[in-house]
Amino acid sequence: MAAAAACLPLFLLLLLLLISPLIIASTAQQTPQELLLDFKASLADPSGALSSWSRATPYCNWAHVACASATASAGAAVSVSLSLQGLGLSGDLNASSLCRVPGLAALSLASNAFNQTIPLELARCASLAALNLSAGAFWGPLPEQLAALASLVSLDLSRNSIEGQVPAGLAALGGLQVLNLGGNLLSGVLHPALFTNLTSLHLLDLSGNRFLESELPRELGEMRSLRWLSLRGSGFSGVIPESFLGLEQLQVLDLSMNSLAGVVPPGFGLKLQKLMTLDLSQNGLSGPFPEEIARCTMLQRFEVHGNAFTGELPAGLWSLPDLRVIRAHSNRFTGRLPEFPGGQSRLEQVQIDNNSFSGGIPQSIGAVRTMYRFSASLNELNGSLPGNLCDSPAMSIINISRNSLSGTIPEFKNCKRLVSLYLAGNGFTGPIPASLGDLPVLTYIDLSSNGLTGGIPTQLLNLKLALLNVSYNQLSGRVPPSLVAELPALFLQGNPGLCGPGLPNDCDAPSSRKHQGLALAATVVSFLTGVALLAVGAFAVCKRLVHGSESTPWKLVLFHPVKITGEELFAGFQDKNVIGRGAFGKVYLIVLQDGQSVAVKRLVNSSKLTFRAVKNEMKVMARIRHKHIAKMLGFCYSEGEVSIIYDYLQRGSLQDLICAPKFTIGWKERVRIALGIAQGLEHLHNDHTPQVLHRDLKSSNVLLGDEFEARVTGFGIDRVVGEMAYQCSMASDLNYKCYVAPEQGCTKKPTHLMDVYSFGVILLELVTGKPAEQRASDDSVDIVRWVRRRVNVTDGAAQILDPSISSTAKQGMQAALELALRCTSVMHDQRPAMDEVVRSLQALCFGAHAETPRPTEIDL
Ligand SMILES: *[C@@H]1O[C@H](CO)[C@@H](O)[C@H](O)[C@H]1NC(C)=O
Ligand SMILES: *[C@@H]1O[C@H](CO)[C@@H](O)[C@H](O)[C@H]1NC(C)=O
Ligand SMILES: *[C@@H]1O[C@H](CO)[C@@H](O)[C@H](O)[C@H]1NC(C)=O
Ligand SMILES: *[C@@H]1O[C@H](CO)[C@@H](O)[C@H](O)[C@H]1NC(C)=O
Ligand SMILES: *[C@@H]1O[C@H](CO)[C@@H](O)[C@H](O)[C@H]1NC(C)=O
Ligand SMILES: *[C@@H]1O[C@H](CO)[C@@H](O)[C@H](O)[C@H]1NC(C)=O
Ligand SMILES: *[C@@H]1O[C@H](CO)[C@@H](O)[C@H](O)[C@H]1NC(C)=O
Ligand SMILES: *[C@@H]1O[C@H](CO)[C@@H](O)[C@H](O)[C@H]1NC(C)=O
Ligand SMILES: *[C@@H]1O[C@H](CO)[C@@H](O)[C@H](O)[C@H]1NC(C)=O
Ligand SMILES: *[C@@H]1O[C@H](CO)[C@@H](O)[C@H](O)[C@H]1NC(C)=O
Repeated sequence: MAAAAACLPLFLLLLLLLISPLIIASTAQQTPQELLLDFKASLADPSGALSSWSRATPYCNWAHVACASATASAGAAVSVSLSLQGLGLSGDLNASSLCRVPGLAALSLASNAFNQTIPLELARCASLAALNLSAGAFWGPLPEQLAALASLVSLDLSRNSIEGQVPAGLAALGGLQVLNLGGNLLSGVLHPALFTNLTSLHLLDLSGNRFLESELPRELGEMRSLRWLSLRGSGFSGVIPESFLGLEQLQVLDLSMNSLAGVVPPGFGLKLQKLMTLDLSQNGLSGPFPEEIARCTMLQRFEVHGNAFTGELPAGLWSLPDLRVIRAHSNRFTGRLPEFPGGQSRLEQVQIDNNSFSGGIPQSIGAVRTMYRFSASLNELNGSLPGNLCDSPAMSIINISRNSLSGTIPEFKNCKRLVSLYLAGNGFTGPIPASLGDLPVLTYIDLSSNGLTGGIPTQLLNLKLALLNVSYNQLSGRVPPSLVAELPALFLQGNPGLCGPGLPNDCDAPSSRKHQGLALAATVVSFLTGVALLAVGAFAVCKRLVHGSESTPWKLVLFHPVKITGEELFAGFQDKNVIGRGAFGKVYLIVLQDGQSVAVKRLVNSSKLTFRAVKNEMKVMARIRHKHIAKMLGFCYSEGEVSIIYDYLQRGSLQDLICAPKFTIGWKERVRIALGIAQGLEHLHNDHTPQVLHRDLKSSNVLLGDEFEARVTGFGIDRVVGEMAYQCSMASDLNYKCYVAPEQGCTKKPTHLMDVYSFGVILLELVTGKPAEQRASDDSVDIVRWVRRRVNVTDGAAQILDPSISSTAKQGMQAALELALRCTSVMHDQRPAMDEVVRSLQALCFGAHAETPRPTEIDL
């Protein structure tokens, strides 16, 4: 036996030696068809993109194969192109048979999932003119062997994970016109021969190789045919060599996001007659920009932002006939802005923020018909605003914040496309023009920190605003209430004369109330459209009547038909109706006129979110329908607080039950309750995207029906009060600390495993029959620690398990205890997910129902 085993490799070797000449002999005669099928065999083709490749049809008819009659010099009858990009291919690519296909001229394997190094056999594809491996998930070094591809014209290896140096040998590819190595992990210094020899290159892309550590090579200037040069974000340093002045064919020059320093060589632009895009942004370049750039008459984009340029922008630049984009922000440019040749300019974007430009805003801006964005904040511009500033039919964004502009804000009449108007931090005076309310798409208005006077025009209500910042002016009068209610972001502070909800000043002039009613009626109409989206939607608006003089408007939104009025709601907020107190406020039980009971959770400190935001969150929660989730019937919103209305169940909360003088329900019911909670929680976790987390699970948030069916309530409060207030309230609430997972304080992102912890605590309550927090007793230690202290002592279980339950249930209780201990594990990754908890409890539940076994339903 042993001898035979030892002989086996020898035998195999012999066999191999015998047959290998046969293989070579047979492959030598393989047809292109067979060679291609060999190649296909090395590929994994999960989507069957190459299924048409078969012996039955000539290969020129196969999908993704193209044949053309070859030029005489190619030495083959046809030239073959394989376009295999984006086919989801992977596998152990082996090109050695492929390269023997006569006349193979082009190979694209781009956008596939090869996850391997670049196959060295590719070097044998002698006739290859174009090789494209872009985004093919290739990694490892760039093989020097590719230098053998003497016919290569285009080499695209971009967007892979190719690392190491660019081999100097590639300099042998004298015919190369396209070399794209962008978006890889290449490193080290580039060999000068690469530039001196590759003189035919039209396109050179080395962008996004942040580990290259090169000075910008002087030799680049010798690549006289270059049209497209991108070295963006590739770790280049040093100065821009003078040799660049001679790249006369350049159309695109992108040197952005490197560490270039020094000045742009004088004369730059003189010979670049074809330059269309110039991007030198985000470097450390300094000095004035050479005037000669104005000779680049085809220039469309001029991007030099994020450098330290000084002096004036070349005057001729502004009037270049094709120029669309000037981005020169965050430099130290000075001087005045020129008037534009309004009739001819094709400028679309001017971004010159954060410089030291001075003087007035050119009167001609409004006359540039293509102008879309004018952004010149943080400069020293002075004078008044031209009345035609946004007369361009395309103008959408104006930002001239933080200059020294003055005068009144003109009546902008023609700004049909204006979306953003930022005039903050200037010296504007006079009123906010009411005509702003007529601009159809105006969405963001920042007029803060000026000297504006008068009121906030009600016409602004016509707009679908997302931001209105009028803080720190001298505005006065009543803030339109619906503006407050509807706007996601409204900033009013620093205007002592303003009054209204949420402001230090209440406008309690009685005469104003009627107006308010009208304004509210108007709001109802606009909200109704939103609310009608819900299947069952009723809607009412009520004014706060009960609590004194404030006239804050309330909005009551109902998702189910409930006969409740605002008056009833507020009349019910009395201490005698309090049935619970939690981190976020009190819970009231209110019995309505038709006898229905509702539980109302009144959230203090919930003023942060706007009505719209709250409504959106509530809609999400109202859509959650599950037999173990308490129905959210509706909510009431006002500036300052939100109350959520839930269906109430007659037995009250689980906490009531556990804390009652005698907690006597049997084990069967307890398992039922636990399973219900677990199923409700599992539904929240698993049936919604994005996942809904409860984040405040405790026995007082579990309501019980007549048959002890549990309904989980109080979830997602964090979405209503906001994360900050949620964190603060949870931290300040000492009563329910023990439900909170230990990692809560130290991790930023809440997880479902925190809910699992809280569930585990409830399960411990059910198993022990003790409330989670035992206040003012000898045993004033929380239940988790109480249980952990007893778990490993002899006869500990006897101390832990609720003695009021008959010993026949002991086995099930023991299993539940173990589950609860896993759920309350300190290490979150050792806690089970809710679906596993549900399965364990189901098994227990059927155990607890041992008298009626239904084994067919156990599906584990
Ligand atoms: C590629 O396939 C050939 C036969 O077609 C084989 O000789 C060679 O070893 C293979 N190369 C690799 C790297 O698998
Ligand atoms: C690539 O292959 C390696 C093992 O060869 C594997 O560990 C890795 O997950 C793969 N990467 C991708 C993106 O498939
Ligand atoms: C390489 O293939 C990709 C994907 O098909 C394509 O976008 C890219 O232009 C190709 N490169 C060259 C140089 O043709
Ligand atoms: C550069 O080209 C010259 C002649 O064209 C050749 O002799 C030399 O070997 C090339 N350099 C490299 C590094 O391939
Ligand atoms: C203004 O530009 C300087 C560089 O010139 C930069 O450091 C700073 O962050 C910029 N400030 C803003 C607000 O963009
Ligand atoms: C307007 O400019 C200010 C100051 O530079 C800046 O903080 C703000 O984000 C800009 N707004 C827009 C919409 O670009
Ligand atoms: C704007 O400032 C310049 C000085 O930078 C001053 O000469 C000019 O009078 C000012 N113009 C206005 C309208 O205030
Ligand atoms: C509103 O304006 C004030 C004063 O200019 C500023 O501090 C605040 O950041 C602005 N708020 C927003 C959201 O733009
Ligand atoms: C409400 O917020 C105030 C201040 O932000 C804080 O002092 C108070 O404790 C909070 N109340 C509750 C119940 O969290
Ligand atoms: C209980 O004992 C087991 C081993 O018997 C141990 O693995 C476990 O950590 C102990 N648990 C506690 C809470 O001490």
